[in-house]
Amino acid sequence: MDNQNGQSLTPKKLKARLEGFSRVELIHSPTPFRKLERLTRELSGPEIFVKREDMTGLGFGGNKSRKLEYIIPDILAKKADVVITYASLQSNWCLQTAAAARLFGVIPLLLLFKTHDLPDELDGNLLLDHILGARIRIRDGGPGKFIDEAVLEEALEEAINEVREWGHTPYVAPVGGSVPGGDMDRPLGALAYVDALLEMHDQTEQEGVAPIDYIIHATGSGGTQAGLAVAAKVLGQGTKVLGISVIEEAKKFRGEVLSIALDTEKILGLNTGLDADDIVVLDEYIREGYGIVDQDVADAVRRMAMLEGIFIDPVYTGKAFVALLDLVDRGYFKPTDRVVFLHTGGTPALFPNKSRFTEFLPG
Ligand SMILES: Cc1ncc(COP(=O)(O)O)c(C=O)c1O
Repeated sequence: MDNQNGQSLTPKKLKARLEGFSRVELIHSPTPFRKLERLTRELSGPEIFVKREDMTGLGFGGNKSRKLEYIIPDILAKKADVVITYASLQSNWCLQTAAAARLFGVIPLLLLFKTHDLPDELDGNLLLDHILGARIRIRDGGPGKFIDEAVLEEALEEAINEVREWGHTPYVAPVGGSVPGGDMDRPLGALAYVDALLEMHDQTEQEGVAPIDYIIHATGSGGTQAGLAVAAKVLGQGTKVLGISVIEEAKKFRGEVLSIALDTEKILGLNTGLDADDIVVLDEYIREGYGIVDQDVADAVRRMAMLEGIFIDPVYTGKAFVALLDLVDRGYFKPTDRVVFLHTGGTPALFPNKSRFTEFLPG
């Protein structure tokens, strides 16, 4: 079968299309996949599994290292020797980019923006960025919950000029590695999550638990969700991808994810008929805002640790897990459903959030 008319494509054929892209090996794959037995029992709901993208093995792990397997070759092909990227102060993306860059002799220059009130003390990812010897520029993100466009443009221009003055060649990598921008003109990061879904497909077949009904995960720049949604559509097993937004309103964000997904299809030569209905984004778990820890997040982090010995983080995976627990509670899933919680990493964020987090721990 081919998929020119929205039909499905075999996993083997989809894999073959991915093989047309340059890739470096950064992660230990397949990442672990297992049933969360105690959680499933406690909830008496659907069967719940975890895919450990926090165990990719680069730095402290996370979804960004899988994406970087496709982005690093683009940096090298463009003969850059400094990667400039940007995000919030405790960014997982920036840390993973810095770690990957070091493996290939590329210097990381990070523009880190203070977008909420975390102190810029050396803790969490910021400490790790320093250990990696990244060149770090900390700035105020400007008013509003996102990094102000004009502030970002100015900071990028300054950084590019600085690198050129050093006599080096910069490559600007867009935040999250998914939405084309800077020197990356294709959604390379999203390809990695097409690949991750194929990997999970093999694991679920081997374990005799295919097909998976739902995958639930934290969504931020949209590439993870876009890649998963494309692959789920292509394989045609009816797997639904639920993106739990940690920052942006669903209404706007769905369009952004769809656009990355359609660009991803284009570079893979696919035309699956994927549309807005395939992109489910839930934004009610943002609650008070990006990175703000509340009682539910703290409880969710503890619950996962105490039941399954797995640490999740308070900014991304903690919110996705709050969503999973709430959706089970509200009867969103059938008891026979198989649901995968995609652990996308981010655990170093537990440490800089310690004072907020401990406010919500029992005595
Ligand atoms: C731990 C973690 N989970 C999930 C995400 C969201 O991934 P994406 O940017 O592909 O939407 C991020 C992005 O920063 C992250 O750091």
